[in-house]
Amino acid sequence: MSHPLRSRYAALPKAHLHVHLEAAMRESTLRQWCAEDRIEVPPLVDYPDFAQFLDAYGVLIGLLHTPERVEQLLDEVVADAASQGVVALEYASIPEKAAAFGTAEEALEFILPAAAEAGRRHGVWTGAIVSIDRGAGPDHARDAAHLAARFADRGVVAVGLVNDERDGPVAGAAEAFEIARAAGLGVVPHAGEMAGPEEVRAAVELGVDRIQHGVRAVEDPAVVELLVERGTCLDVCPTSNITLGVYPSLERHPLAALLEAGVRCSIGADDPLLFGVDVVDEYALAEERIRVSPERLVECARTSIEASFAPEEVKRGALARL
Ligand code: ADE
Ligand code: ZN
Repeated sequence: MSHPLRSRYAALPKAHLHVHLEAAMRESTLRQWCAEDRIEVPPLVDYPDFAQFLDAYGVLIGLLHTPERVEQLLDEVVADAASQGVVALEYASIPEKAAAFGTAEEALEFILPAAAEAGRRHGVWTGAIVSIDRGAGPDHARDAAHLAARFADRGVVAVGLVNDERDGPVAGAAEAFEIARAAGLGVVPHAGEMAGPEEVRAAVELGVDRIQHGVRAVEDPAVVELLVERGTCLDVCPTSNITLGVYPSLERHPLAALLEAGVRCSIGADDPLLFGVDVVDEYALAEERIRVSPERLVECARTSIEASFAPEEVKRGALARL
């Protein structure tokens, strides 16, 4: 990728709304911790199927077994975000996995202030998305939502819904979403990635705030129309979709078509370490390979800021700099 493009998009103020904390680990840090723990470095960038992608993800999670490591991870992730022009970072994680040295409650009590502290150090607003594992059943979903709700005024901004959509439809999390919403939290499930447009429709009908991926809406014009009508933002991560086999190449990715139809989209990197791209690369690749115009990409940055859960003053400051 050309360097002038990278520096242009690094300078663009943006919110990063779709990124999983553990998978935003630096590669140098991964290699160091694997060496310390005497385990093999997982495969990066190449996954024959979703299950093997989740296996690599599991290795990253397994490295986060001390508070010092989680603190270092948060500092590095937020520092990297700052250097990518990110003014607001919404990082997703399953708390008890991202900080595997206590209960879920203790994990959040550690992660949230450490993230806020890193945010102050590097000049980035941070908000946590508590991910519900869609394969872990209704008790887990309810517990995760209640947990997120207890931290609604301490840095948690939303609940998400992650892992393979083929393991459970978005409607299965309806009760968890209600719990989150009653606490004033946002709802931002993954949908329309491994499953088709019917799951995007189901998410919109549940009243979600944004959809992570959502790109397969493009297969049904009525669902595209619904997204436009509701103004629902899709947090799109093109390279993730290629690596996990949703589309054969960036040239065939539907981001340009969705924007052309009037769908609001933010751009994210999903799992930067596992897909070999950061959010700046994703903007540059969208221009170079998906053929989205620079003007539309500035609109994506604007949308990301507007659609984020950051406080109004953070948004106003960032929008003024666009
Ligand atoms: N967790 C991390 N990345 C994910 C993805 N692309 N889809 C579902 N769950 C995820
Ligand atoms: Zn994701």
